[in-house]
Amino acid sequence: MRAYRIAAIPGDGIGKEVIPAGVEVLQALAERDGGFSLAVETLPWGSDRYRETGHFMPEDGVAVLRQYDAIYFGAVGDPQIPDHVTLWGLRLPICQGLDQYANVRPTRILPGIAGPLRDCGPADLDWVIVRENSEGEYAGHGGRVHRGFPEEVATETAIFTRAGVTRIMRFAFELARSRPRRHLTVVTKSNAQRHGLVMWDEIAAETARDFPEVTVDKELVDAMTTRMVLKPRTIDTVVATNLHADILSDLAAALAGSMGIAPTANLDPSRRFPSMFEPIHGSAFDIMGKGIANPIGTFWTGAMMLDHLGEPAAAARLMAAVERVTAAGAPLTRDLGGAATTREVTGAVIAALRGTNL
Ligand code: NAI
Ligand code: MG
Repeated sequence: MRAYRIAAIPGDGIGKEVIPAGVEVLQALAERDGGFSLAVETLPWGSDRYRETGHFMPEDGVAVLRQYDAIYFGAVGDPQIPDHVTLWGLRLPICQGLDQYANVRPTRILPGIAGPLRDCGPADLDWVIVRENSEGEYAGHGGRVHRGFPEEVATETAIFTRAGVTRIMRFAFELARSRPRRHLTVVTKSNAQRHGLVMWDEIAAETARDFPEVTVDKELVDAMTTRMVLKPRTIDTVVATNLHADILSDLAAALAGSMGIAPTANLDPSRRFPSMFEPIHGSAFDIMGKGIANPIGTFWTGAMMLDHLGEPAAAARLMAAVERVTAAGAPLTRDLGGAATTREVTGAVIAALRGTNL
């Protein structure tokens, strides 16, 4: 039997509701599959720990995580703690410390889900956004001088390295090549940002030479927002900087029906370190503690984790079970127009997994 060690980090807010639901579904799947097992250890890292100890995770947290095969992460963010403190206290140190440089965000309209775009069904919107996840605008390079005085200055410098851009371009081209349409859109802003993003475009063009099977187009990020809304069928695989893809992927999630559905993987494609899988949503202060968070993004994220671990058949079975529930139209949570709880959706997906012919 293939055995995997998973670190589950529910974190904050609805992360504490959706990650236990995801673990339950994954265990039901492993039980039914019989070919693999998951040893899941839940690490109570996050804002509560910060309030008690001054740290979101132990000092050797990144080293602790290296011992696992994968990380299943909920969200970090607390109404009482500034967002930059929570994000830089937990999620970014993990992504950076484990060199998870490729953030992969698939978006599809699942069967039975009505997205906000008129005449846009499951066949019309099937994208994967690849986000550079290690540098760019979120490199953390900058500082503040004359703090609190009228002459205060703050800098936030985007960092683009040839090594960093080359590796994300290669990853995106390889992914585009593996998908049926073999098409990649390179998102840029090289008209206004004439250093880093001109190099970004140049490296994209250089990389394209090694992938003659992949057709490529280039889109400025502002134009990309309108293309996503008006011409969703023209898009397949997308590569964008850390900031641009952060914004575009929230838009993509909304166009596919809800923030509560969308999954993401923070990958170390070299597999030196474990990769981290999380729903793209945050702590959702407005609904936390109510038991009504949509767990589907977390389930889909779990399927991505199984795929990465080398269990594609189990991953496909999990997605088929999720799609059976969405296609039935119930039970669904409020963000999808239903009235179900997290528990009810979880139970329905487990029942679909245990059902015949899956
Ligand atoms: P958010 O994703 O937490 O919520 C945005 C909206 O989507 C809210 O109305 C929320 O109720 C809804 N929503 C999100 N997930 C849902 C789900 N599973 N089911 C139903 N509805 C759902 O983003 P927001 O409000 O900008 O951020 C809240 C906190 O989360 C902040 O502290 C932020 O920094 C943090 N955050 C953390 C992330 C992470 O850990 N990766 C990602 C995004 C935000
Ligand atoms: Mg975001």
